[in-house]
Amino acid sequence: MLKRGTLFLTRDMIKIILSVLTQWRVVQWMFLHLMVSDTCSVVTVNQPRVLAAALGHDALMPCQLSLSRKLVTPPVLYWIYLVDDKELAKVWKPNENYVDRVDILDSDPLSLNKSILLKNVQWDDSGKYQCKLSVTTETDERFREKGNGTLLMIYDTPIFTLTGHNNTMLQCEVNVTSEPGFVLSIFTDGHKSQTVNSSSRNHSAALPYITLSETILWRSTEKYECQLHLNEDLITKSTFYHHLSTEPDAEVYPEPWSLYVSLLLVPVVILLALLMAMLIHRR
Ligand SMILES: *[C@@H]1O[C@H](CO)[C@@H](O)[C@H](O)[C@H]1NC(C)=O
Ligand SMILES: *[C@@H]1O[C@H](CO)[C@@H](O)[C@H](O)[C@H]1NC(C)=O
Ligand SMILES: *[C@@H]1O[C@H](CO)[C@@H](O)[C@H](O)[C@H]1NC(C)=O
Repeated sequence: MLKRGTLFLTRDMIKIILSVLTQWRVVQWMFLHLMVSDTCSVVTVNQPRVLAAALGHDALMPCQLSLSRKLVTPPVLYWIYLVDDKELAKVWKPNENYVDRVDILDSDPLSLNKSILLKNVQWDDSGKYQCKLSVTTETDERFREKGNGTLLMIYDTPIFTLTGHNNTMLQCEVNVTSEPGFVLSIFTDGHKSQTVNSSSRNHSAALPYITLSETILWRSTEKYECQLHLNEDLITKSTFYHHLSTEPDAEVYPEPWSLYVSLLLVPVVILLALLMAMLIHRR
């Protein structure tokens, strides 16, 4: 009796264990399936969060599509210019304001690189640019996905000159768009002397830019460099060479005495020749 009971219990236990195992496998399978189908359906549109462009130059705005299924038809691409997260203009396909200003960089329609080039960047172009795609895959599913948008920030060429009374001060000045992130610094012999950043400036509504300016006492023996950073990235720099702005008359050319002498010799020789001729004629 005891033996049979034990056997019965063991069978029951095996049944329970088996059912638990199968249930667990179902759960596992469902979990895996969900994960896989989730990654399959996700289309991601990658854009850099922020980008700096020089005023009057061209800005390359990257947009890279990644998806796990094969593309069968070219994705439909849109680039949107946003102000306060509201659509203000269609940059691609370009509306009338952008028609000669925007180029798509990879002309292959099936390419996943959807970067554009915005030409001759002006102050008004600062703002957010969003890359959006509509994708149809092999299984005829359609996905619409948008990137997080790139904030385009613009800067002008920094001016690094001597100022103040008797040119005793060295000033670096640059105009930039007003969003925080730009930092201007002057380096003296490789050491950072002073910095100013765009978040500390009040924005006057009349101008599309703010001016960052740094002034330090100038010594002719030191080497100076002015750098503009956007967050951690070096955007542009300019070096100050003091010999360009001081002693402008240091380079004096020597007088060309030999030239003067040779020029003088010509009339003297002619005069002598005439005199000789006259003397010979008299005789
Ligand atoms: C967009 O932003 C969200 C939230 O900030 C982030 O979770 C996501 O990874 C970003 N997407 C891309 C493609 O960078
Ligand atoms: C996309 O194309 C542009 C222009 O050809 C190129 O500069 C950029 O590196 C490309 N991006 C990637 C991720 O390959
Ligand atoms: C600058 O020049 C003025 C005369 O123009 C002179 O009086 C003054 O002392 C100078 N200052 C310095 C710091 O050299």
